[in-house]
Amino acid sequence: MKKDTLFSKKGIELAEFNFGRDTAEVFDDMLNRSVPLYQELQRMIGEIAAEFAQDGTGVYDLGCSTGVTLQTLHEHINKDIKLMGVDYSQDMLDKCRERLTTMQVSRDCELLQSDLNKPLKINNASVVVLNLTLQFVRPLYRDSLIRSIFEGLVEKGCLILVEKVLGNEPSFNQIFIKFYYEMKKRQGYSKLEISKKREALENVLIPYRLDENRQLLIRNGFTSLDIFYKWYNFCGIVAVK
Ligand SMILES: C[S@@+](CC[C@H](N)C(=O)[O-])C[C@H]1O[C@@H](n2cnc3c(N)ncnc32)[C@H](O)[C@@H]1O
Repeated sequence: MKKDTLFSKKGIELAEFNFGRDTAEVFDDMLNRSVPLYQELQRMIGEIAAEFAQDGTGVYDLGCSTGVTLQTLHEHINKDIKLMGVDYSQDMLDKCRERLTTMQVSRDCELLQSDLNKPLKINNASVVVLNLTLQFVRPLYRDSLIRSIFEGLVEKGCLILVEKVLGNEPSFNQIFIKFYYEMKKRQGYSKLEISKKREALENVLIPYRLDENRQLLIRNGFTSLDIFYKWYNFCGIVAVK
């Protein structure tokens, strides 16, 4: 796994965080070191997906990046499903295809380059995963994306939504972020790397509060939902149609 040193060089400024080739090259390491409990989260996504996946349906991973979650879904789901990975970055999709080939993922798996800010047709899905991706979709388009996921799910299908979230109050927010940066330091990121990445993500990653995400799901059709993962400023929700 290539080490993430994207923000380690003094003087080199990344204007805005992006998901191009340099990021795709080191992305697996970035996920492992920047997302709290990432391996456990993967296992949970796999378990929940296996519970809700139905024969003869599609299982979607929106914002599939290098395909870590698609691999998890493939390994956990023992049903006749088609895997669909969607991402707007061709560099990520190239890495994803490479992974699926190396891991000899034999099952039907389609990768689609598409911008989630634009309408997306979801059809006959029993599981849709949005793992740390909705936060990059412009707020203006989040309702229509969640609505089309709800409409594209079969009865008893589920959406697995994981997001970075804001604390309910500024004081909680502050301490959660402080603990998050401490975690990143423990993972080997320097103060400079942490602050440069924070700046690069500003206006690119726009987190909601947990209750805002909950309202977003409810007003677009989901009535049955629960939290399955929470670590300071990170949260995972499962919502069932
Ligand atoms: C943080 S990564 C997601 C991590 C991944 N889902 C996982 O399970 O580890 C966000 C991904 O969403 C993609 N993305 C961001 N904005 C997008 C958009 N508007 N349309 C499609 N993909 C987008 C990025 O290219 C990137 O691969």
